Amino acid sequence: MTNKNTFSLGLIICLVVIIYFFLTPIISLKKELKVNQNDIIEKEDFLEKITLGKLLNAKDKVSTLLVGEKKINLQVKSILGLVKNYQVTLIVKENPNIISKKYDIKEVNGVTTINGVIIVNKSYSLPSDYGNGLTTDTLKAFQEMQNAAKEENLNLFIRSGFRSYLDQTIVYDKWVKKDGQEVADTYSARPGYSEHQTGLAMDLNSIDQDFADTKEFAWLNENAYKYGFILRYPQEKEEITGYIYEPWHYRYVGVELSKELYNNGNWLTLEEYFEIDSKY
Ligand code: DAL
Ligand code: ZN
Repeated sequence: MTNKNTFSLGLIICLVVIIYFFLTPIISLKKELKVNQNDIIEKEDFLEKITLGKLLNAKDKVSTLLVGEKKINLQVKSILGLVKNYQVTLIVKENPNIISKKYDIKEVNGVTTINGVIIVNKSYSLPSDYGNGLTTDTLKAFQEMQNAAKEENLNLFIRSGFRSYLDQTIVYDKWVKKDGQEVADTYSARPGYSEHQTGLAMDLNSIDQDFADTKEFAWLNENAYKYGFILRYPQEKEEITGYIYEPWHYRYVGVELSKELYNNGNWLTLEEYFEIDSKY
């Protein structure tokens, strides 16, 4: 090899190394973090060292309500803007100082329930293979509600019911392309984080803020709870649920709980009722 060729090869290798460094965040993360139940921790706590990059949403709180092991997704941005995903493990140990546990929180095969109610939000996800359609109870309750509305000449129909992990991937990716991830995250759930995958949630009639001005919505707002449904993302609760107002999205929780969450017309969210977070 001539001197010139060696020099060119050296130059190319140098360039590749430089480009690689700019594209790839240089980061070292704790593979797992052991904390006590109810300890306050942030995504930043998983960080050992970061050079040439930035941990996204570093100050986001990580829920430590649930005893056991869970996976936390972290995103790191390189200086050239390339986002890389990392997964770390959080191990939450029971805190002996917490004497009375108000709620019975369980995580079985990646599915979280509180007092038997499946919880899915930005903090509690589902395995990718979970779900295979609307549950029988949900469909039955919807049909009863639909018939009752029909008696008052109101037409209720399911616009979007069960959505698999793959369906949600397609929907979410579409919105991220259109509005960018930060905005998309305010109205569309990431795959594995959508209530639609539970088979207990449905979007009715029209996925549009104007639906709030219809007779159908007014009726649902006063009557859905009688059939076991809640308005899942009420107005002005964006900081609590993690999502903007969705007058069309109803979640089946059973009549006992829906009556409590209806709260005489001043809807309570599952997050408020069970004192849980909804944060990625
Ligand atoms: N629009 C709701 C939050 C969902 O995507 O499941
Ligand atoms: Zn929905």
